[in-house]
Amino acid sequence: MTQKLLRGRVLSFVAEPQGPEDTDSFVYHEDGALLIEAGKIVAMGGYEAVTSKAGGAEVVDHRPHLLLPGFIDLHLHFPQVQVIASWGTQLLDWLNTYTFPAEVGFADAAHANTMARAFYDQLIGHGTTTAMAYCSVHEASVEAYFGEAARRDMCMIGGKVLMDRNSPDGLLDTAQTGYDASKRLIEKWHGQSRARYAITPRFAITSTPAQLHAAGALVAEYPECFIQTHLSENKAEIAYTLDLYPQARDYLDVYQMAGLVTEKMFLGHAIHLEAREIDALSEMGAHPVFCPTSNLFLGSGLFDHSGLKARGIQSAIATDIGAGTSYSMLQTLNEGYKILQLQGQALHPYQAFHWITRGNAMTLGMQNEIGTLEAGSAADLVVLDARATSAMDLRMDAVTTLAQELFVLMMMGDDRAVAQTYVAGTPQKA
Ligand code: GUN
Ligand code: ZN
Repeated sequence: MTQKLLRGRVLSFVAEPQGPEDTDSFVYHEDGALLIEAGKIVAMGGYEAVTSKAGGAEVVDHRPHLLLPGFIDLHLHFPQVQVIASWGTQLLDWLNTYTFPAEVGFADAAHANTMARAFYDQLIGHGTTTAMAYCSVHEASVEAYFGEAARRDMCMIGGKVLMDRNSPDGLLDTAQTGYDASKRLIEKWHGQSRARYAITPRFAITSTPAQLHAAGALVAEYPECFIQTHLSENKAEIAYTLDLYPQARDYLDVYQMAGLVTEKMFLGHAIHLEAREIDALSEMGAHPVFCPTSNLFLGSGLFDHSGLKARGIQSAIATDIGAGTSYSMLQTLNEGYKILQLQGQALHPYQAFHWITRGNAMTLGMQNEIGTLEAGSAADLVVLDARATSAMDLRMDAVTTLAQELFVLMMMGDDRAVAQTYVAGTPQKA
């Protein structure tokens, strides 16, 4: 079996950083190396030590760049690649004006396939190697999504959106057809190559109680699958939801009543939460997802990361393309940093880079496969160049520590800072 040895400045987290001084939370090798074989990392360490384990492996020298685990993006919408940067509206109008019309087109398999190739090119270009995405209501979109991921050997999570009301023609299933199609897709794709399925009721407004219960039945039948939906993103959305579900104690209760809330559940946005909802998220181990660029773009509100963390809630972080405005997890950290600053919560670069790698992997329970560079993990990684632009180069001349460099990357970096992205040991960037 052929081996490959990547040389560079290796950085991988082993625990959640507790603060700026917590250098025990990561492994860092200034002259480091990764030995890769059959798509997996066989060894991580200093260059000399790793070389001694490699018998004639091809050496790829990435110095002076950083080698990190590939980024993980846990909330985005595959059918919204042509919705990004649509002007002037907040959530419900934005959905009706721009998003739903664009998603109708994914009934066409040829269009879905073309967009899937473009979608994965964007992820790879921005250093993202695993993502959890919503497909459209159409099975063709799910086939395109997982088919293209399989061709690239990527570890991807996703699912068919369930929506049986308050949506235009061409974008509606029923409780029964949505259940049947999801079941077929789970049987076909979950655990197939590196795919995982997420049961995906879009949100309370576009599902009848019958559909949410059908989704709950799927959760009971397939407890190994993830569940993704939206929660408390926008005030008008919350008011409409409570009108549609008068018997619910609050928004989260709509999902609880349907048996959807488990530690496998990811709830996009989760901004305007009631005390009872926070108690329930904490108790059930479900994961809010912070979507900074989207929350700013749609004027949705400020995510209370520290408040949730203080309750033992593990939040994920994500781009939320196409309400999100960048595929870059670095730019996601940039805007996330500012949202937290507005609330007196300073996100340290160690915590930030942990979050988009091992932290997100932990919320999935997949930290043994992705999110770190430990031996045995998939060789999904990103090579970062903190001098990628002239402005970054100028700033880097005054940088003396790893933490400072990481902060430059998260504030100023984007796809230009991604020198290479590896999936299962194979470089993907042209
Ligand atoms: N709520 C329901 N659907 C969506 C969506 O596509 N994007 C966002 N940001 N929120 C939603
Ligand atoms: Zn979303």
